[in-house]
Amino acid sequence: MQFAEQLALLDRGLHYGDGLFETMAVVAGRVRLLPRHLHRLVLGAARLAIPLHDVPEIEAALQQAAESMGEGVLKLILTRGSGGRGYAPPERAEPTFFLLRYPQQLPTLTDAKEGIVVRLCNLTLARQPILAGIKHLNRLEYVLARAEWREQDIAEGLLFDSQGELIEAVASNVFLVQAGRLRTPCLDQCGVAGVMRAEVLACAERLGLAAEETRLCLDDVLCADEVFLTNSLHGIRPVRALHGHREWAAGELTQRLQHELWSRL
Ligand SMILES: Cc1ncc(COP(=O)(O)O)c(C=O)c1O
Repeated sequence: MQFAEQLALLDRGLHYGDGLFETMAVVAGRVRLLPRHLHRLVLGAARLAIPLHDVPEIEAALQQAAESMGEGVLKLILTRGSGGRGYAPPERAEPTFFLLRYPQQLPTLTDAKEGIVVRLCNLTLARQPILAGIKHLNRLEYVLARAEWREQDIAEGLLFDSQGELIEAVASNVFLVQAGRLRTPCLDQCGVAGVMRAEVLACAERLGLAAEETRLCLDDVLCADEVFLTNSLHGIRPVRALHGHREWAAGELTQRLQHELWSRL
């Protein structure tokens, strides 16, 4: 397996968003949560029927890139490659892999403790169960949602679907704490099932905390005792305010989960 150095003009990733990606944190020369990233990639490839035979090779190549970078972000893009007639995929696709390296310092637990301000996005996500959960390359809804604000002090925007259900944030998953229970939206209709979301659910299980994937709406957010967001680069970020609606003090359960998570990342 080789990473492409250039993008072919006929690549289906460029034409149709026909592909997948993974954005991974690299710390101390290793990719954080690599098995979870690979698992989602394999799941996505199966959903899109993109042949993906060389997972151990991809894993080795990512590990090698992480070792040489030390700390930063790796972005793997996998497309169905070039060819086919219009939308019709080629009979024998030859996937293309791209790897982008962003050496940079990643947020620490101290950064993550500060808490963030989020807003409500006007854009609503369309439901499409076949694409729900996977990290495919079609991200226009998220581009438009992120274009809704420019204020530096607003870190994220909460996204709801066309039926008014809470789904996630623009580049994070969302958790609520209600009466000691951890609740996160079901992602069977739309949204990205984050690797950090899965890790937090596993952490909650280790700590013996009640956690559920369920249907949630804006009222649930407004009534929540604690709210936090997760993604692979930031881990857990407590929400200290929903702009124009509500503020939260630092939450005990969020802090417990942060410590448990960071002790293992
Ligand atoms: C739309 C969306 N949801 C959720 C996430 C969180 O996913 P992960 O925990 O895999 O970083 C991301 C990450 O970029 C995202 O773009």
